[in-house]
Amino acid sequence: MGAGRAILAPIVGATTERKQRVLTGYRPTGPMHVGHWFGNVENMLRLQEEHECFYFIADWHMLTTHYDRTAELPGFTRELVLDLLAAGIDPERVTLYRQSDVKEVAEMTLLLGMITPLGWLERVPTYKERLRDMAERDIANYGLLGYPLLQTVDITIVKGELVPVGEDQVPHLELSREIVRRFNRLYGEVLVEPQPLLSETPLIPGTDGRKMSKSLDNVINVRDDEPTVRETVRTYITDPQKVRRGDPGRPEICPVFTLHRRFSPDILEWTEASCRSGELGCVQCKTNLADRIVAYYRDFRERREELEHRPGLVEEVLAAGAAKVRPVVEETMKAVRDAMHLT
Ligand code: TRP
Repeated sequence: MGAGRAILAPIVGATTERKQRVLTGYRPTGPMHVGHWFGNVENMLRLQEEHECFYFIADWHMLTTHYDRTAELPGFTRELVLDLLAAGIDPERVTLYRQSDVKEVAEMTLLLGMITPLGWLERVPTYKERLRDMAERDIANYGLLGYPLLQTVDITIVKGELVPVGEDQVPHLELSREIVRRFNRLYGEVLVEPQPLLSETPLIPGTDGRKMSKSLDNVINVRDDEPTVRETVRTYITDPQKVRRGDPGRPEICPVFTLHRRFSPDILEWTEASCRSGELGCVQCKTNLADRIVAYYRDFRERREELEHRPGLVEEVLAAGAAKVRPVVEETMKAVRDAMHLT
C-alpha cells in the first residue's frame, strides 16, 4: 500500500495528494513535564501543520495501571487538555477528543479480542516491564494485558495510518499490524495497517539523572512557577567528580548540561567550555539553566493561566472533538459489523 502511494504521488501531484492520517494518544497521569514536551508535544505541534491529526486523551488506558485512582481522572484529563491547548495544539485543526467518549472503542476491543492470541499479548515487552517495575502494585490484570489491543483499536477505529511513537512503542505497532492482517484475512479488507512514525525521542534526564518520569518523582513540570523551577533545578545531580568550582567537569555525562542543550543555545558552547575548564561552577550553571527554562515556558504559562479561567472551555473542546470523531468511528464500526455479520 505504501509503495503504491509512493508511485502515484508524482503523477497525482503534491497538491492533490491526500494528507495522511496521524493518530496519537496521551494518558492523563498527571501534569505535563519537560520530558513529555520534547518527547511528544513538539512532535504533535509539527504534525498538526502537515497532516490530518487525531489526538486523544487515553483515559481508559490510564485505568490499566491506575484503576484504583479513578477519582483523579477528571482533574488529570482537564489538566492535560489545558496543557495541550496552551502548548498550541489547535482543536480547529486537529480532532482532539477523549477515548471514553467513543463507546465504540469498547465494542471493537471486544471484537478484536476474539482474534488476538494470548501469546501475542504476553510477549509485548512493555507488559513484562510494567509488571516488573510496578511489582508493589496489583496490576496483573486482564486490562493491562489488553493495553496494546486497546491501542490497536484506538488506531484502527479512525483508520490511523501513521502513529508517532517512541522506540518502546514499536512492538505495540507490530502487534497492531498483526491483528489488522488477521482481521482482514478472516473477514475481508476492512482495517488499515498503521505505520510507526519514529520520532527522535531525546532522553530528557530528571533530577536524579534517570529518564524524567512522574513515577520517579524527578520531573520539571512545564507549568511550574519560577520558584519551583529554580528549586527543582537546584536539586539536579551533576558530574560527581566536580565537587567545587575550579574542578574540571564532564558536560557529556552531566544531566544539567543535557538540559542546557535544549534550553540554552545562546550560552551552550560557553557552558561546555567553562565547565570543562572548571571556571564555571555548578551553582552558577544551574542558575543559568533555571533562567532559561523559566523564560522558555513563560508564554505557555501565561496562555495556560488565561485558558484555565475560561469557564466551560475544556468541556466544549471535548464535546466538539467527540462530535468530529463520531462519523469517522461510525463508518469503521459499520464496516466491521458488516464484515463480521453482526448486523
Ligand atoms: N501507549 C501510549 C503511551 O503510553 C498511549 C496511547 C494509547 C497511544 N493509545 C494510543 C499512542 C494509540 C498512540 C496510539 O503513551
